[in-house]
Amino acid sequence: MRVLVTGAAGFIGSHAVEAFTAAGHEVVGLDVLLPTVHPDQEAARARIPDGIELIRADVRNIAAVRRALAGIDVVCHQAAMVGLGLDLNDAPDYAGCNDLGTAVLLAAMASESVGRLVLASSMVVYGEGRYECAEHGLVAPGPRTESALRQGRFEPPCPRCGLPLAPGLVDEDARLDPRNVYAATKAAQEYLATSWARAAGGTVAMLRYHNVYGPRMPRDTPYAGVAAIFRSALAAGRAPRVFEDGGQRRDFVHVRDVAAANLAAAVWTADAEVSAGTGRALNVGSGTVRTVGELARGLSAALGGPEPVVTGEFRLGDVRHVTADSTRLREELGWRPRVEFTEGLAEFAAVTVS
Ligand code: UD1
Repeated sequence: MRVLVTGAAGFIGSHAVEAFTAAGHEVVGLDVLLPTVHPDQEAARARIPDGIELIRADVRNIAAVRRALAGIDVVCHQAAMVGLGLDLNDAPDYAGCNDLGTAVLLAAMASESVGRLVLASSMVVYGEGRYECAEHGLVAPGPRTESALRQGRFEPPCPRCGLPLAPGLVDEDARLDPRNVYAATKAAQEYLATSWARAAGGTVAMLRYHNVYGPRMPRDTPYAGVAAIFRSALAAGRAPRVFEDGGQRRDFVHVRDVAAANLAAAVWTADAEVSAGTGRALNVGSGTVRTVGELARGLSAALGGPEPVVTGEFRLGDVRHVTADSTRLREELGWRPRVEFTEGLAEFAAVTVS
């Protein structure tokens, strides 16, 4: 198949390009190569394997996107502004890149009759994960308050009785509950894509990524993921600073496994048994729950650096625990994660931080 990968020079996009190419598919890349994201433009271009066309354009440029769609069977839409989305000054950029960008892409796909899409979504659309109260069963705790966090009460209590909750795995049928600007733009992308699928008779797989790590992860910026922040600290000889009490639960999934999920999803969009108009959400996680403290200790050990420091600091938009149930991806698309956590961390630690 001929695949258009948006955000092709980015962290996940560049691995997706490799996965499609390795499987014998023809790839066209689209990337605006933002200098803030790619300060080293040469290095960003060098991520695209020889022989692959890279169109330098913003995904909001409908004329460029239409041209890029010529002869394309499926679009793998990775171009996005990522991070936590706490600073409201960033809201126009998040909404512009992620939602207006997706709307433009979908309009272009409709006019060029391209009917298959893989969309990079995120676990953040769920807000807090799945919790069970011994007394009240499944409950949806509200956002944690600043005063609770200040007092070191990091666990969200049962909204009905205030007792501690047991965190569990979120599946795709959970209610969407985005709790920051970035999360809201990811949820909106999903709604836009499912509306497109219904109206245009298209098919979309919405991949809700868990915490992706691995080679080419964006470096230490306010928008970087915690693994990159910890690695940068260790590379500079500093201890990783673990927020809250380090007990936050996440699922760290390797970027090559995420790229393989994109390939499987792109193939699935052509499945004859999938009816036109389908929008299917699929969690993408390794299936193994870790804590942020474990990640910090694992990276310190892999790099032979100082022990992590648990600071008790917090970020208001952070969720406490969110861990995915990726059974659907395994069962319906036959995907399996291949990169084991300790091996993935060792490889990640070994990559020179430039
Ligand atoms: C991350 C991604 C988000 C993605 C989501 C999917 C980033 C910035 N965020 O959000 O795009 O959609 O996973 O689940 O990549 N922490 C520390 N010390 C630090 C920084 C963070 O302890 O210096 C803690 C945070 O308090 C948080 C945890 O690490 O509890 C994870 O933070 P982060 O990497 O920003 O990821 P998510 O918020 O899970």
